[in-house]
Amino acid sequence: MPGAIYAEGLVKTFGDVRALDGVDLDVPEGTVLGMLGPNGAGKTTAVRVLTTLLQPDRGKAVVAGIDVLAHPDQVRRSIGLSGQFAAVDEYLTGRENLIMVGQLYQMSGRDAKRRAAELLERFHLGDAADRTAKTYSGGMRRRLDLAAALVVSPPVMFMDEPTTGLDPRNRQALWDVIQELVAGGTTLLLTTQYLEEADRLAHDICVVDHGKVIARGTSDQLKARTGGERVEVVVHASEHISIADEVLRGFGKGEGTIEPHIRKLTIPVTGGAKLLAEVIRELDARGVEIDDIGLRRPTLDDVFISLTGHAAEADENGGKGGGGAVGRQKKGRKGAEPGEPVAPSGAADAAEAVDAGVTTNKEA
Ligand SMILES: Nc1ncnc2c1ncn2[C@@H]1O[C@H](COP(=O)(O)OP(=O)(O)OP(=O)(O)O)[C@@H](O)[C@H]1O
Ligand SMILES: [Mg+2]
Repeated sequence: MPGAIYAEGLVKTFGDVRALDGVDLDVPEGTVLGMLGPNGAGKTTAVRVLTTLLQPDRGKAVVAGIDVLAHPDQVRRSIGLSGQFAAVDEYLTGRENLIMVGQLYQMSGRDAKRRAAELLERFHLGDAADRTAKTYSGGMRRRLDLAAALVVSPPVMFMDEPTTGLDPRNRQALWDVIQELVAGGTTLLLTTQYLEEADRLAHDICVVDHGKVIARGTSDQLKARTGGERVEVVVHASEHISIADEVLRGFGKGEGTIEPHIRKLTIPVTGGAKLLAEVIRELDARGVEIDDIGLRRPTLDDVFISLTGHAAEADENGGKGGGGAVGRQKKGRKGAEPGEPVAPSGAADAAEAVDAGVTTNKEA
């Protein structure tokens, strides 16, 4: 039986741009799917199709057991949506916005008021509750929009980059609310640019690029295929590099790298903090003085670079990433200038790096 969110072969084109190029999804009931992907990957388009806001050119979607194309009205009654761009009524106060949503969902006036007050408190909007939303800051609007999506707890929720622009305290508040919702049985599709967020909340993660799902798996599986853990050591003196190298090889699970100019050695490992302690003891026993040492785990950057291709490659190859109709740009990526085109070649790289347990759709 398909899950609470199911899609098969979704295609959506805008002129020359294939925003969705054959997307399949299957999210089991009561779980969270984290959808990651660079700007322009097709995440919002997927959410809009699944929430009935946009007709796909091809493909099938079933949400909460209802065919999205055949019965969009019924689907709308079973879902909640928080969009990338806050959809609040500027001329109503925060409180009025939330009460209005409650009433749209046929809550009694009393329940709608109570729920509004509760959510305003949770998202730290109590002080601003009775001001019109047009006086709100960007982060405040975002929080109000999220609160609006949470007035009722529908069986299936969609959240498009819910925490972009939120400060750490409010991000945490949202994570808590999401965890409660899911514990209560809600199925959630969440798009995000933050692996940490997907890590905390998502049972499964799919990485989308160029309208295709290029990898899916649990957070651990994706990290493992990205290269897993590494020990990084900076030795104090250049003459110690070769001894340190020998020591690290004894612990390593693959080829390491040496950057002599900064006296830094890196080696892939398994074994976590316990192994790190052993490495330190051994280096010490061999008389190697250490300036810095640490265990490094893959970050969102690493996962993106491994799966979707490195921004720098676009430069080396004469900006081939800019060949498409749309300039693409990745958020939060070190080394990428705003507006810099990103190489589209990554899907194939990702497929080569496939690891057990992670399914990858290689481009035909
Ligand atoms: N209404 C539209 N008209 C024309 N092109 C569109 C439209 N909506 C989306 N696109 C294009 O489709 C592609 C996918 O866009 P989409 O908004 O789904 O990306 P995204 O993954 O949500 O990106 P971001 O991380 O920036 O939010 C982009 O190339 C975008 O320019
Ligand atoms: Mg988007």
